[in-house]
Amino acid sequence: MGARPNFMKTAPVMRAMDARGGRFLQQLVHTGQHYDEAMSRVFFEELGLRAPEVNLEVGSGSHAQQTAQIMMRFEPALGEFGPDWVMVVGDVNSTMACTLVAAKLGFKVAHVEAGLRSFDRRMPEEVNRLVTDALADLLLTPSEDADANLRREGVGAERIRRVGNVMIDTLVQNLGKARDRDTLARLSVEPRRFVYVTLHRPSNVDAVESLQAIAEALKAIAGHHPVVFPVHPRTRSRLREFGLLAGLEAHPGLRLVEPLGYLDNLCLAEQASCVLTDSGGLQEETTFLRVPCLTLRPNTERPVTISQGSNRLTALAGLRADLEEAIRRRDSGEALPAPPLWDGRAGERIADCLLER
Ligand code: UD1
Repeated sequence: MGARPNFMKTAPVMRAMDARGGRFLQQLVHTGQHYDEAMSRVFFEELGLRAPEVNLEVGSGSHAQQTAQIMMRFEPALGEFGPDWVMVVGDVNSTMACTLVAAKLGFKVAHVEAGLRSFDRRMPEEVNRLVTDALADLLLTPSEDADANLRREGVGAERIRRVGNVMIDTLVQNLGKARDRDTLARLSVEPRRFVYVTLHRPSNVDAVESLQAIAEALKAIAGHHPVVFPVHPRTRSRLREFGLLAGLEAHPGLRLVEPLGYLDNLCLAEQASCVLTDSGGLQEETTFLRVPCLTLRPNTERPVTISQGSNRLTALAGLRADLEEAIRRRDSGEALPAPPLWDGRAGERIADCLLER
């Protein structure tokens, strides 16, 4: 694992393996793709992840640099451990780089969260998903759409196993603790009376035109609803570069804060009147929590969050109207059952599946 969303997906699987009476010997590798305290260490503490056996400390760089560094540093570590299986999660550069190394050295790879597709190859994660799934031996999927994507790509049924959503395992495990947090008080917002915003996709934040339009939209929303916006390091550096940070920080309706840990994030997601995001994880968490979510993207690799959840795609042109509609949905108390196998037990199914193999 290496980047923020990996930690929530790894923790429940490791716990389930540990609970199987010594049948598994695990070695945890952190690539170091994310390294700030707020992007990495806080998750180890909150999720009870043990210290990794190895930290490859690759840090940031271009896609090629980062991927190459992970590969070069993972190769000797893998040779030393000599595992029966390499397990990777999600769709970040660490996922793809470690899969490539393992496949070439002849180690079996299990991919957790396999089969998701946005069908948009401008998105770096889509390339990572395609490469990882092409090479992995065992494709552990969260939902039926993922199985269908893999079958359409010609993957044999014996490589696919639907296990459900591991992010939801972590959510179920930690919701009580998240509810005990004083996050809302610290940010001076009231339950169900604020919009929770997270944005970090290169397609939204890397170009000045797009980020400027987003900044204007946030100020307009903050004129009507308090907005809580933890700012990802990529987004913060672009806001600063484009001269947009001070204007947002000065707005009385906007609370710009540093990236939050898992529990504060979950607390805000559950208590918000509406979530506005481009994160994959928040689309899923809000679906489970039945909190209306607007995804500021033209597509999603997680379509069940729309067909069976509280998520809708949005664009800046229709954002104000979509937001008011979402807040009305929240107030009307629309209730939906969670998608099948989003039940807190995906990690256990993964551990059992690996034992079978
Ligand atoms: C990565 C993942 C993305 C995931 C996101 C969650 C890829 C291709 N992208 O994007 O799928 O949704 O993580 O956060 O793997 N930085 C820091 N401190 C850190 C890490 C990064 O300051 O601990 C800054 C650096 O300036 C870096 C930039 O953020 O250049 C981007 O980091 P990077 O890991 O390359 O991509 P993310 O945008 O975080």
